[in-house]
Amino acid sequence: MEARISVIEKRLRNIKRIISVASGKGGVGKSLVASSLALNLSRKGLKVGLLDLDLYGPSSHIILGVKDVFPEEEKGIIPPKVHEINFMSIVYFTEDKPSPFRGIDISNIIIELLAITQWGELDYLIIDMPPGIGDETLDVMRLVKKSEFLVVTTPSKVAMGAVSKLLQLLKELKLPVIGVVENMKMAESNYIEDYVSKMGLTYLNSISFDKNLEESIGNASKLLETMFMKDFEKIVEKIS
Ligand SMILES: Nc1ncnc2c1ncn2[C@@H]1O[C@H](COP(=O)(O)OP(=O)(O)OP(=O)(O)O)[C@@H](O)[C@H]1O
Ligand SMILES: [Mg+2]
Repeated sequence: MEARISVIEKRLRNIKRIISVASGKGGVGKSLVASSLALNLSRKGLKVGLLDLDLYGPSSHIILGVKDVFPEEEKGIIPPKVHEINFMSIVYFTEDKPSPFRGIDISNIIIELLAITQWGELDYLIIDMPPGIGDETLDVMRLVKKSEFLVVTTPSKVAMGAVSKLLQLLKELKLPVIGVVENMKMAESNYIEDYVSKMGLTYLNSISFDKNLEESIGNASKLLETMFMKDFEKIVEKIS
């Protein structure tokens, strides 16, 4: 086994729960769910880390309004604190420039980030995953052995079609799925709830489409006051 891979296990040893927020589909709200989950748990007094692993479109730093803080080097790197959250992002490597990575580069960056980050003791580490079931998703499944998966979809049949592939993969690999969140709901429908139940999985709750959400992006205290967060609270209660 490559030396860095055994280091990863050591780095994650003192974390009680690791939750990867994933979806088979892009743009369904994974980053928002991941950042909101980290914020919500941290406001409850828990020790929380947030790791943005979206190589193509890192966005947690935008959602939380992260400015002028950087990781410190100390036998690895120590994540800066953002609203009491230990925050680490691929953006510290790519400097917010476009990053056209290919297969082996992607694996290397993910391994490097997991191997050098010193999280210390945490109650929760939340991972904001890139969309789909490409290399980076498979890497997290392989490298972060104790991860549980929180899966996000929208009410769309098209989204659920892609998301169901991820759910099947997780099932085949016998990886724990906490449940499915139905985000951006606008009309009454049981389609997603029924679909998820038929797969034998937990439907956690829906989150309504919040037309005022955009105004709160980049401002953590405003984000905590949104309708999105009210709906989201019910989900946090179920999973924590
Ligand atoms: N419930 C909601 N109501 C209104 N807007 C929302 C809601 N959820 C997410 N959004 C908005 O939808 C957009 C996509 O959300 P987000 O970036 O979190 O998705 P994602 O799944 O992480 O996307 P990607 O696949 O690109 O990583 C963002 O502009 C976000 O603010
Ligand atoms: Mg995202």
